[in-house]
Amino acid sequence: MNIPYLNLKQINLNYSAELMDAMKSVLDSGWFILGKSLEQFEKEYASYNRTKHCAGLANGLDALILSLKVLGIKEGDEVIVPSNTYIASWLAVSYVGAKPVPVEPRWETCNINPELIEEKITNKTKVIMPVNLYGQAAELDKIMAIAQKHGLNVLEDNAQAQGAVCNGRLAGSWGHINATSFYPGKNLGALGDAGAITTDSDELAAKIKIIRNYGSEKKYYNETKGVNSRLDELQAAFLSVKLRNLDDVNRERQKLAGLYDAGLNAIEGLTIPSVADGCTSVHHIYQVRTEKRDELQKYLNEKGIGTLIHYPIPSHLQQAYSDLGYKKGDFPIAEKISETTLSIPLYQGLKEEEVLYIVDMIKSFFNA
Ligand SMILES: Cc1ncc(COP(=O)(O)O)c(C=O)c1O
Repeated sequence: MNIPYLNLKQINLNYSAELMDAMKSVLDSGWFILGKSLEQFEKEYASYNRTKHCAGLANGLDALILSLKVLGIKEGDEVIVPSNTYIASWLAVSYVGAKPVPVEPRWETCNINPELIEEKITNKTKVIMPVNLYGQAAELDKIMAIAQKHGLNVLEDNAQAQGAVCNGRLAGSWGHINATSFYPGKNLGALGDAGAITTDSDELAAKIKIIRNYGSEKKYYNETKGVNSRLDELQAAFLSVKLRNLDDVNRERQKLAGLYDAGLNAIEGLTIPSVADGCTSVHHIYQVRTEKRDELQKYLNEKGIGTLIHYPIPSHLQQAYSDLGYKKGDFPIAEKISETTLSIPLYQGLKEEEVLYIVDMIKSFFNA
């Protein structure tokens, strides 16, 4: 068998007729930036998340950066971030001049541990940024309670968990403002770069819509120094098609993850993902953990199975963050995850027999 880690061609070919129709309607409209397709998608995505507003942006990193900007975060401020996340969460904080203050995850869920947040709060802390990592909602109810107690804002990084839930409420709807990415590999993926924010705040939504467009609400009148970060009409039209299928996509991913769980749960030396009480995962990534990660990756590769590592170097040990002066051992749980984690194939269209083959190959590796 030859099973790639991800098959984006197959995923999108499922919707090729609808995507072509969407492209034709944008082409026919002759309007490519800030038009009806974006307005439509923003309405649909806000409604999906049960938030009052959505604003489409050029990508997920911009969604995080602009969210911090409209929350007024600047040099000298601190933002609580997970030590275990994709580096984009940290980069956004750095780009507005603030300091990322890392908090370790729970080993079981790999998501930020709410019990460790309060000890990191100082008089400079302005925002808590939980990341719903690998598709699993963080313990957002507990995080919101801590934020409220300390008068802090919450910015959810929901790039990986569109459709996941914490205590009946969607990830991406808890924070004062929430950022997401529609990078092609995401559960809700565009055919290029795209991102968005969701919020219930009229003020934050209005501010973001101005900043994303050069700081201008009325053409050529600029009330603030903005940027160019707009979700274009074509991607918005594609995303409307994909959004209609998001719940089916997530259900399929959850079913495939269930097959992995059943097949892999009793292997000594292998840890499978666990989900916090009251939370769900839409399994953007299915990661297993083992001390023999590199050998397992090589073995699976020889058997025709593609894998990835999310993420091989935690943010605090990246060269980009050498200025913060962290060293190995400072965030041992994040480090251990990076040393042991391996992401195995999981996407809509992956066949059950392929999942069972991968399970068999992992078993045979541990039996050898
Ligand atoms: C957790 C997380 N945050 C932010 C981003 C940034 O999104 P984008 O690639 O659209 O800029 C990503 C993208 O991979 C991500 O995984």
